[in-house]
Amino acid sequence: MRISKTLLVVALVSASIASFAQTPAKTETKAAAAAPVLAATPPMGWNSWNFFAGKVTDQDIRNAADQIVATGMKDAGYIYINIDDTWEAERDESGVLHTNSKFPDMKALADYVHSKGLKLGIYSGPGLKTCAGYTASLEHEAQDAQLYASWGIDYLKYDLCSFRRDQMAAKAPNDKAEQMRMMVAAYEKMGKALKDAGRPIVYSLCQYGWDAPWEWAPALGGNLWRTTGDVQANWGSIYNIINQQAGLAKYAGPGHWNDPDMLEVGNGKLTLAENRSHFSLWAMLAAPLLAGNDLPNMKPEIKAILTNGDVIAIDQDKLGHQASHVYSDGEVDVWSRTLSGGAMAIAVLNAGSDRVSIHPFHLSLAKLGLHGPQKGKDLWTGKDVTLNEGMPIELDSHDTLLVRIASPK
Ligand code: GLA
Repeated sequence: MRISKTLLVVALVSASIASFAQTPAKTETKAAAAAPVLAATPPMGWNSWNFFAGKVTDQDIRNAADQIVATGMKDAGYIYINIDDTWEAERDESGVLHTNSKFPDMKALADYVHSKGLKLGIYSGPGLKTCAGYTASLEHEAQDAQLYASWGIDYLKYDLCSFRRDQMAAKAPNDKAEQMRMMVAAYEKMGKALKDAGRPIVYSLCQYGWDAPWEWAPALGGNLWRTTGDVQANWGSIYNIINQQAGLAKYAGPGHWNDPDMLEVGNGKLTLAENRSHFSLWAMLAAPLLAGNDLPNMKPEIKAILTNGDVIAIDQDKLGHQASHVYSDGEVDVWSRTLSGGAMAIAVLNAGSDRVSIHPFHLSLAKLGLHGPQKGKDLWTGKDVTLNEGMPIELDSHDTLLVRIASPK
């Protein structure tokens, strides 16, 4: 009892701080109370890093915006076009940060992205340098936040990187606890700077899940926080990340989300089954859906995955109840989440490298708290299905059965 009461208080305080954090400073009255929650559902969009890495240019971002509209991804909900690392140049004598030659005019770029009905994101970090060695925000947090607001930036990914070596390890070499306090303070500083800048800017913490950010990030205005190290475009990396999400469901909710990192759907040598599973599990996990693929050359089958409205609706369900890992049976993992209107989603993932039929897997509805046949929809075939107690389920290697049950019993 005591624990649940404490959690409730923490959740209420977090929710009120999170909604306050995105409120323009001058309207903290009745209008502020009615202001929409920033990132009320997990942010959706596209980020430059997984495909372009350090090569990204202004033109690539404009093309991405064009493609998000042309492919129907915007209509499916992908709204943020996020520039990752390598847009930065140096500061001038007033400390104002300038863009490098790849990004000649950030305000004009923001205007272009906004003209498409989309939003623009940017990247920095609390250290002197970003991960790619470009100028970051140390001791210029307020100035940078104001600069982003003046350009019309809508989203900031704030990446720890050099801060851990040059600040945390350098200033408190043998004191891990002090290092963590420094890290939290650095994120708090930028959270306050963004709030003071007076523009709703989604605040994305990127510090690889160190020191349980799900416990402290919402209170300092964080809308999402990475839970692990960097994702890579291979199944091992994706499955490893999935396994690190168990237990985090209670920390997600409108305005504040666990972030298992950006999507690799369509990248590397992922099979179609792996792409489907990656997208299915990110949707179950109420994860931000930030595509990172080569949009102009997107294959139809990849577009079909990224724009599957039924799967996106699971991710974007307004309750924001992240899935929990319910049980595993050998190489098969079963996750479930509750949805608005009393509905439920179930994901059955075959993590094995051979077909399940040679290691029979039988679904336990009882373990999911269900009794008797359950009518649902298979969200990848679009067909009606009935799940029965103990039914055998055959799945190809690394594929996922994703079912929405409208009225679970
Ligand atoms: C870190 C982040 C990545 C990306 C790169 C950019 O590795 O975790 O997502 O932003 O930095 O340098």
